Amino acid sequence: MDREIIRISVSAGKTDAVKAAGDVVAVGVFSDGTGGDVFRKLDEALGGALSQVQGLGDFKGEANTTAVVYGNKGIGARRVVLVGLGDRAKATADTLRQAAGRAASKAVDLKAGKAILSLHGDMPSSAADEGLGQAMAEGAHFGAYRYDEFVGKGKEGRPASIQITIAEPDAARARAIGDGVKVGSILGESQNFARTMMNRPANVINPPSLAAAAKKLAAATPGLACSVLDEKQIRAKGMGGLLAVGQGSATQPRLIVLKYSPAKASGRKVGLVGKAVTFDSGGISLKPGEGMHEMKYDKSGGIAVLAAMKAIAAMKPRVNVYGIIPAAENMPGSRSYRPGDIITTYSGKTVEIQNTDAEGRMILCDAIHHAVKLKCDVVVDVATLTGASVVALGEWRAALMSHSDRLVSQIEAASEACGENVWHMPCGEEYLELMKSKIADLKNIGGKWGGACTAAAFLGEFAREVEWAHLDIAGAGMVDGSKRFGSPGSIGFGVRLLTTFVMNEAKTK
Ligand code: BES
Ligand code: MN
Ligand code: ZN
Repeated sequence: MDREIIRISVSAGKTDAVKAAGDVVAVGVFSDGTGGDVFRKLDEALGGALSQVQGLGDFKGEANTTAVVYGNKGIGARRVVLVGLGDRAKATADTLRQAAGRAASKAVDLKAGKAILSLHGDMPSSAADEGLGQAMAEGAHFGAYRYDEFVGKGKEGRPASIQITIAEPDAARARAIGDGVKVGSILGESQNFARTMMNRPANVINPPSLAAAAKKLAAATPGLACSVLDEKQIRAKGMGGLLAVGQGSATQPRLIVLKYSPAKASGRKVGLVGKAVTFDSGGISLKPGEGMHEMKYDKSGGIAVLAAMKAIAAMKPRVNVYGIIPAAENMPGSRSYRPGDIITTYSGKTVEIQNTDAEGRMILCDAIHHAVKLKCDVVVDVATLTGASVVALGEWRAALMSHSDRLVSQIEAASEACGENVWHMPCGEEYLELMKSKIADLKNIGGKWGGACTAAAFLGEFAREVEWAHLDIAGAGMVDGSKRFGSPGSIGFGVRLLTTFVMNEAKTK
């Protein structure tokens, strides 16, 4: 890896955004044309330059828009970035998360080393400052991120680091925002860690190198332990699904098991299970060439789990959490598993392979069974599992399937809180019927229709003894960030959702 990813730090300070020195001061403006106190003071100091931009119709305060105005001696920063907050009546913490993302991204584009954010000043007074601070820190980390570790040194033009300060003149409010910024920074850093790992190509990240990265993370993180099974141990344990998918590759499969143990734990034991197919060529049922390079992202579920474990260990909830990551590369070759093979999985259930490209469920079923054997009470798996889920929901919502309405509500609540969206879909008996084989217990593909639901029904069969939910992130987990955020590559979906779910779980006992 030639270049270090941009170093981002976010803090809150009792600071006057008008006077604070920096390369950029970003100020929020609603689509009714009004900003807060800071906006008015900056406008005044700049002789009405901000309202002039509005008057010309160049900036309307719409969400996700920005405008740059240059500073003078009357203000502390070199530039003002106006950031649209959209409709005042609809403003939530997520509005600020997105606005902070835009502001930080613009700051990096402007090669700023130091940016001041004043976005929250005019938010409805009902909004809790701690939550706003958290959301702004998450957004700032997200927006400042660039994946450029392989971009030649000569072409750089971005700062090595950026310092972002969320400015609040009132001491008490600054403290509350600061508390939220601490949480938001843990989440933002973990999400960016996930993005880097997800963005790395398959010639860098393979099952053994992913396992090494997990070990390295655990060694550097108090409260986190990591053990890894290699292909021999996987075979000896009888994890036939993981072995079958991984056996066609020169880089052999691994089962990565992370454990977070707090000083004092109570309540249910949580298992997070994430699909890490480091490259999905389809195997013998080879995928078409077009777009195949995107299948380096097929490890995103596993990496979301890895990064969530990093965040969880930093936040120290009083609940035991396992992170279970089956890692394999799905390749065609003389050692590959084939259509027609019958595989005995770790659970003892047999599966007839009808398509080697339906490989995610074959590695997840063994990992879920492992979670059951570790006596997890709740198991949430996360996987870029089916193209069908993308057809159903597009790129901005993950499909959520479960046998438990209670767990669905818990995950929906976490989703609502963290801004990563899900949509509840079915996975009941009618879908399971389609997964039954005539010559084995199950087969690995259903019919032509409802592919996200049949895949989930398959997984559910391995989670009968636990409370289980499945997140299919094939859309949200693989979307290219340049479409909506102007920064190519992974958006690190799932890290905030899984972490928020676990933090809530620790509170409900
Ligand atoms: N990793 C893919 C799912 C996927 C497809 C993610 C497209 C993102 C975009 C998965 O392993 C897969 O290939 N699924 C097949 C299943 C089918 C063979 C039953 C699919 O969705 O086509
Ligand atoms: Mn596949
Ligand atoms: Zn796959």
